[in-house]
Amino acid sequence: MFPFLPLLILTLPLLPHVSALPLTFPFFPPSSSPGPTSTTPPVPLAPANATTQFLRAAQFSRVAYCTGAAVSSWTCGAPCDSLGGGVEVVQAGGDDGLVPMYFIAIDQATESVIVTHQGTESSSILSIVNDIQIQLVELNTTRFPGVDATIRVHSGFQKTFERTADGVLAGVRSALDVSGFGKVLVTGHSLGAAIATLDALLLKRTLDPAINITTTLFGLPRGGNTAWADFVDANLAPTLTHISNQHDPVPVLPPRFLGYQRPAGEVHVRAVDGDGEVSEIVECDGQENENCSEGNSLFDIDIANHAGPYLGNVSFGGKFCPL
Ligand SMILES: *[C@@H]1O[C@H](CO)[C@@H](O)[C@H](O)[C@H]1NC(C)=O
Ligand SMILES: *[C@@H]1O[C@H](CO)[C@@H](O)[C@H](O)[C@H]1NC(C)=O
Ligand SMILES: *[C@@H]1O[C@H](CO)[C@@H](O)[C@H](O)[C@H]1NC(C)=O
Ligand SMILES: *[C@@H]1O[C@H](CO)[C@@H](O)[C@H](O)[C@H]1NC(C)=O
Ligand SMILES: *[C@@H]1O[C@H](CO)[C@@H](O)[C@H](O)[C@H]1NC(C)=O
Repeated sequence: MFPFLPLLILTLPLLPHVSALPLTFPFFPPSSSPGPTSTTPPVPLAPANATTQFLRAAQFSRVAYCTGAAVSSWTCGAPCDSLGGGVEVVQAGGDDGLVPMYFIAIDQATESVIVTHQGTESSSILSIVNDIQIQLVELNTTRFPGVDATIRVHSGFQKTFERTADGVLAGVRSALDVSGFGKVLVTGHSLGAAIATLDALLLKRTLDPAINITTTLFGLPRGGNTAWADFVDANLAPTLTHISNQHDPVPVLPPRFLGYQRPAGEVHVRAVDGDGEVSEIVECDGQENENCSEGNSLFDIDIANHAGPYLGNVSFGGKFCPL
């Protein structure tokens, strides 16, 4: 356990966007020196290619914000309709409180099983990321036997993951059996992205290795230390992608001086046009890249970018799925 020092209150009242952020967190001495930063220039992606690759995941992650009843009956309006026919929800859970909503579906169009978790509204993700549970704790070695003993994860994210882990594993197994498909897409936004990372690891280490797992995340906060980031890379790269949007501060929280580091696989949206379509998007080398989110100036952050729009004018949050 770390010694619990008095609260360090970071207030940056002079900055218009920052003043809205609850950048208040218990201060712990860094548990390790910061991980590496890549200086390799990012590679531009054609927006149309990125949309082809990631839009369906975004559309599923958006549906995770709809109510459980609308998801179960697939009557959530435009967010459900955007996915076309052939989506069968086989399990939906969560209580919209301590246990964020999630669902498991069979997607005929991509011959995949989908797992997606709801995130939190932009206002609350900052308090979750930064609150008391920011403490880095051991990865549960009952859940993940035989892992490197230096892996540390965000305490709050791991607790939230645990509440649905058994249900997700059972639901995915059953959906794979019923459908006969060999692919799983794990996706989510914000807190949902953090939980989805842990889900993807659990599935990867538990299911038949012949099952292909793709992990597509939006607005992913940092979830653990450098050993954690390396563990994610070793298990899920190169099919894990986390898409960060412009000046969203969430991907760079909690801060690296507390020992946090992101996994590889960042794709960074640099600009969005007036129709909400991505106009500039790059693929970032390394775990933290000085020319992607990590390079954003503290003086130029915008929490509105956390919600979106990401690819294809998809934004995330309850107001984008009122049903
Ligand atoms: C976009 O996709 C096309 C067709 O798959 C490919 O030829 C092209 O190189 C891609 N462009 C970029 C910038 O990735
Ligand atoms: C660790 O994982 C096991 C299941 O593998 C679970 O029963 C237990 O509650 C978890 N422990 C914590 C502290 O979350
Ligand atoms: C899984 O991925 C491997 C390697 O890319 C590929 O050969 C195989 O066909 C994929 N399986 C499915 C069910 O897509
Ligand atoms: C983009 O999405 C927003 C929010 O869902 C919507 O209000 C707006 O009309 C969309 N813009 C276009 C050009 O479709
Ligand atoms: C990458 O970041 C460095 C340091 O912030 C900066 O000097 C450089 O201009 C950036 N390069 C690009 C291509 O944005």
